[in-house]
Amino acid sequence: MEIISGKDLAASIKQDVAKQIAEYANIYGRTPNLTVILVGDDPASVSYVTGKGKACAEVGIKNNTITLPANSTEEDVIALIQKLNNDKTVDGILVQLPLPKQISEQRVIDTIAKEKDVDGFHPYNVAALWEKRPCILPCTPKGVVKLLKSKSIDITGKRVVVMGRSNIVGLPAAKLMLDENATVTIVHSRTQNIAQVCAEADILIVGIGKPKFVKPEMIKQGAAVIDVGVNRDPETGKLCGDVDFDACADKCSYITKVPGGVGPMTIACLMENTLECFLHNVKQ
Ligand code: GUN
Repeated sequence: MEIISGKDLAASIKQDVAKQIAEYANIYGRTPNLTVILVGDDPASVSYVTGKGKACAEVGIKNNTITLPANSTEEDVIALIQKLNNDKTVDGILVQLPLPKQISEQRVIDTIAKEKDVDGFHPYNVAALWEKRPCILPCTPKGVVKLLKSKSIDITGKRVVVMGRSNIVGLPAAKLMLDENATVTIVHSRTQNIAQVCAEADILIVGIGKPKFVKPEMIKQGAAVIDVGVNRDPETGKLCGDVDFDACADKCSYITKVPGGVGPMTIACLMENTLECFLHNVKQ
């Protein structure tokens, strides 16, 4: 069993992004600008946004985080995004999700200029992903593929089971695995015999938001397991994944930990995506 460290791989990706940003700064006379919108003060969202800001500082991306009050209207958020869309000095726009109930996430995402959509959540980018056109890839699934490739884990022809069908993780992760020529199954809350299906996976990617849900009997001996979950352990109050790591690790060839696995990779890929949007913007 080997633990795949997302922290180490993310550090090397950020180092590479920082180097490129320094070089492009000489050519274009400025560094990328990522503007993050946070609505309200949900502690998890505040922590994610802080982490993104810290990574920006590390790689030389100018980060502007705009915090709006929790009672903001949909119109407030949309007006702000429209202003940022028209601001040539803004390369990337990220709206931290989830949004307060009164605001339609769909309408907000639809408003972000597709060229500044560093999350890859805009319907254009989603459709482009499914049609294999050039697009901005969503950060978390992009990070998952990089984790697997960093260990030269064979994906072609393998059985991949993706647990969870969210727009942010499950669906795009399944598509990226399909693009790597895997045989992909998506399992979810209504799947019958979920343990049996998961136990057939050579690679198991889990993003369901249920602390320690995955137990050893759901894992094939020697499988690679990627845990996208970020939860609080109800017993200890500590951060934990969707996989019961201590119980499952011995059964895996490779496994990621929470924290220190997928999370840092999401942020590293966000830095890459921001650089990509910057290059598109300066070449306009
Ligand atoms: N909330 C949880 N994950 C994400 C993410 O990847 N991007 C944004 N914008 N919000 C999130």
